[in-house]
Amino acid sequence: MVSSICSFRNDFIIPRLLEEHDKVPRDDRDQGPVDMSTAENAFMKQKVLRTQHERPYLSLASYQLDYAEEIGGSIVIRERLSALFNEHISPDSKTSASELVLGAGAQCTLDALIEALCDPGDGVMIATPYWSGLDLSISIRNNAKVIPVNIPLEQFFDVSSVDYYERAFKSAVHPVKAVLVCNPHNPLGRCYPRATLEAIWGFSQTNELHYISDEVYALSFHGVSKPAVDTMVSAAGLHPSSGMIHVIYSLSKDFGCNGIRVGSLLSRSAKVRMCVALSTHGQISSLAIPFVDSVVLTDSMVTTLFTESRTFMEESRNLVTEFLDGRGIKFIPATAGLFVFAKLCLNSTDSERSFIMRLCKQGIVLASGTSYHCQELGWFRICFAVERSKLRAGLVRLGYVLDELDASGAGENDQLDQVEPRVRVDRKRKLVALDGCDKAKRSCVGKDLTF
Ligand SMILES: Cc1ncc(COP(=O)(O)O)c(C=O)c1O
Repeated sequence: MVSSICSFRNDFIIPRLLEEHDKVPRDDRDQGPVDMSTAENAFMKQKVLRTQHERPYLSLASYQLDYAEEIGGSIVIRERLSALFNEHISPDSKTSASELVLGAGAQCTLDALIEALCDPGDGVMIATPYWSGLDLSISIRNNAKVIPVNIPLEQFFDVSSVDYYERAFKSAVHPVKAVLVCNPHNPLGRCYPRATLEAIWGFSQTNELHYISDEVYALSFHGVSKPAVDTMVSAAGLHPSSGMIHVIYSLSKDFGCNGIRVGSLLSRSAKVRMCVALSTHGQISSLAIPFVDSVVLTDSMVTTLFTESRTFMEESRNLVTEFLDGRGIKFIPATAGLFVFAKLCLNSTDSERSFIMRLCKQGIVLASGTSYHCQELGWFRICFAVERSKLRAGLVRLGYVLDELDASGAGENDQLDQVEPRVRVDRKRKLVALDGCDKAKRSCVGKDLTF
């Protein structure tokens, strides 16, 4: 016999996740499907790889094979992260290493934070659309409940959006414990103005709710000069002495290192920190510590992030937005993050399903807004922080799909069978059996990217 959680996951959750996973063929060779559904910073990843090749860090000391000893995770990394916060993420409020706890990426840190704040059945309010990984941390791993706050996209970042939080709070059938805000926002690619953050924080204070801020894209701006009207305001500075504000950060997005699994919680509540530290203890490999210390969180890597990476992001984003503008497609103008959210097909389940199949036939993978709980159908997230050649190939393929739609009368299903793939997509090469579940897995270990 297995636990009821195990049965529930196997019967309901896992089949759904595997179905989603199947939609994302994993490879990026020329004739393979172009995956523009995953938010990864390929530019920074390549920089980190090159630096590591020039200066191999693997001359290990004996303690680097030992268990981690410190409560809250490596003090060396926490000091580096607090310096990053103080200099670049939240310069208005000084953070010390003792206010940080490390975990295996933002997701595991968030799992532990939700565990510390919510009992099973408690609610966490999140504006839709939102990154569906939050469902894993909140509902699937902690049996808490997501309380969606459905805000129209055109009002999403306005101060008036707080009215939607008020309404959702009043009609919630679960006891609400926290509000979770993602800033810069995934999938919308913009930052909240300070006034809106203050209004949401004010709403949280009035109702005695914890305020969780997911800031994993905090430094991923486009262009070297920060846009004046869309500056990132970290929640760490909203009320620096409050133990009700909890900030999640990781090296996955800004530094292109989502596989090394280093994330952090910044909280001024000692109780919350200790509880999270107990859950995340031993999660981070001791091997990741010298790597992060000597290769990733260095002054020169931060400079690269602020200069070359941001220039690359701006150019890549412009390629996407010029493409969309050229075809008269509506999109949310992105200034941060690794993606653009665009309305690519009609607002109906059939149109969206048929669009996804057309994308698949032409060998391109995008994440649908529906998978981000977007209330309006037809939106897709286009991740542009991929190698430039891959981005160009992806846009050409997306162009084929949009041309077909124009030719077939905007999104109807009836001619789908007649759609001829315009690129030869060899899917079999992408699939490597995964023990037990025969599903797709990355097959590009050690690949070198070119820009
Ligand atoms: C908003 C957001 N938060 C957290 C994560 C997870 O980050 P990590 O790789 O550090 O677990 C993601 C990953 O896509 C994300 O988009």
